[in-house]
Amino acid sequence: MSIVERALKRLQQSGQQPAQAAPPPADPSGRAIPAKAKVAPSHGVLRDSSTRRLAGDAAKTVHIDFDALRRSGLLPPEHQQRELAHQYRTLKRPILKFAFDGDAPPAEARTASPRTLMVTSALPGEGKTFTALNLALSLALEKDHSVILMDGDAPKPHVSHVLGVSSEPGLLDLLTEPARDVESLLLPTDVRGLYVLPVGRRSESATELLASARMRQVVSALEGLDENCIVLLDSPPILLTSEAQVLASLFGQVVMVVRAGVTPQQAVTDALGIIGEGPRVGLVLNQALHDNSVGGYYGYGYGDDFTGAGQTGQQ
Ligand SMILES: Nc1ncnc2c1ncn2[C@@H]1O[C@H](COP(=O)(O)OP(=O)(O)OP(=O)(O)O)[C@@H](O)[C@H]1O
Ligand SMILES: [Mg+2]
Repeated sequence: MSIVERALKRLQQSGQQPAQAAPPPADPSGRAIPAKAKVAPSHGVLRDSSTRRLAGDAAKTVHIDFDALRRSGLLPPEHQQRELAHQYRTLKRPILKFAFDGDAPPAEARTASPRTLMVTSALPGEGKTFTALNLALSLALEKDHSVILMDGDAPKPHVSHVLGVSSEPGLLDLLTEPARDVESLLLPTDVRGLYVLPVGRRSESATELLASARMRQVVSALEGLDENCIVLLDSPPILLTSEAQVLASLFGQVVMVVRAGVTPQQAVTDALGIIGEGPRVGLVLNQALHDNSVGGYYGYGYGDDFTGAGQTGQQ
């Protein structure tokens, strides 16, 4: 039995029902770079017609440099963009369905908002940041939804670094200074619908802060800014974070990245055990192949799709 099959079996035993991926919407470009991307207008309102309330500091609009992201390996090469965009559309559908379409348990039966999502993995280097960024870009393409990408990997704040916001205040400032206004630290980007919360000022006790009661308040405040937004956290690896269980419990959904052919089966099982049965868990099989001579295949699956997408003969 493969890692994938075992992980799915575990999910089934825990009673969770992974959502079916919907067919991809019509998006002939297949590109993650949205055609609607433009610099945020100075008043900070990015959508034409919706009930959205997100604004952030428009004066600090972050430029998303797709070429630089590609060079740093966090976006696929152009010739693989279409395939990846398709895979992310498949990945995001059940996430959106759970978040907005009543797939989630009623409020009294859950501990966290279904619109909050933690991207994690058992071990380092499995593709959390790659997945968080590409998923955020794909979610930002949704006309009716926006996404807040939080950098929660304090030891390796890769999101903040690649987006050039490492020196901006962010999550850790919110955790250490309760008087800080959450929205004032939110940075709009020139990709419509995408907002970034940098990691913020370094702290010795970052791990403990991420699992603090204040973190729950911050996540809750962020998702409360706009009823149409998804709050997405790029987090540290589960098995390297002593507070991972508490952190996971603050999120309604967890996307666990599994690097095909690399992540030991036991690590996946242990990480799933730590996450527990609170959040809805989806698995992403990440074929992080760097050798383009073998096609640089990106394999993703979520819930029920995982076995199908993962049948690459590598497990
Ligand atoms: N699907 C993919 N295709 C190609 N390369 C990938 C893919 N996923 C990840 N990578 C590459 O693998 C490396 C690790 O990915 P990433 O930084 O996203 O992992 P991580 O889990 O966030 O690591 P860390 O634990 O160090 O934060 C990066 O160099 C990234 O470019
Ligand atoms: Mg990372």
